Amino acid sequence: MIIAIDGPAGSGKSTVARQVAAKLRFRYIETGSMYRAVAWKARQRGIDLGDRERVAEVARGLDLEFVPRPEGQSLLVDGENASPVLKDEEVGRGAAVVAAYKEVRDIMTAKQREIGRSGNVVMDGRDIGTIVFPEADWKFFLDADPAERGRRRYLELKGKNQVVDLDVIVEQVKQRDHEDRNRPIAPLRPARDAILVDTTHLRIEEVVDEVARRIQAAPAS
Ligand code: C5P
Repeated sequence: MIIAIDGPAGSGKSTVARQVAAKLRFRYIETGSMYRAVAWKARQRGIDLGDRERVAEVARGLDLEFVPRPEGQSLLVDGENASPVLKDEEVGRGAAVVAAYKEVRDIMTAKQREIGRSGNVVMDGRDIGTIVFPEADWKFFLDADPAERGRRRYLELKGKNQVVDLDVIVEQVKQRDHEDRNRPIAPLRPARDAILVDTTHLRIEEVVDEVARRIQAAPAS
């Protein structure tokens, strides 16, 4: 079974996807971290993210491996645990730049399909229900008010002891969404058959219960 959970930054999709996967004993794959890894690695090598050719070359040569850990999941990038640095908002903004390149998307989409081949996976991202697995058994699209999404990102980053300004984070989150929704390839949008969940006024546990309840209550179509 493949469960696709898409949505913008701060919609709660990663937390929900991780908890739903744990509940069902499925694997959890956070595809945003793959685009973040490309941006991070390219910057590490001093490559300008506007240099499409060289960024694509980085994506092609990247060794990505998801490793389940008790505290969550780590992404090994060329053998190095990059998860802590990948969460930076700066890296997220870089990810949105490289994610707009077709060459990069083709490579990541192929990797994601390969991971999904063995089944029983919850995958979150922007285009999982529309492009990566249009035949997914379940598709959810989580969304929330931009101000609330910015507030969640702010609290998450603050919790990691980063010095952040709420207004700046809200603006950055809005900007990244605008780019994701308006890019020509694989834009952020719900699949026609996705179940829409507005998480603005919901607690994470309520969203997890709602998603798990639907999956467990009905046979997948
Ligand atoms: O989900 P996360 O915030 O980590 O994603 C970072 C960026 O990666 C997004 O803003 C988006 O540009 C890109 N992304 C994407 N397709 C996905 C997952 C993430 O384009 N499936």
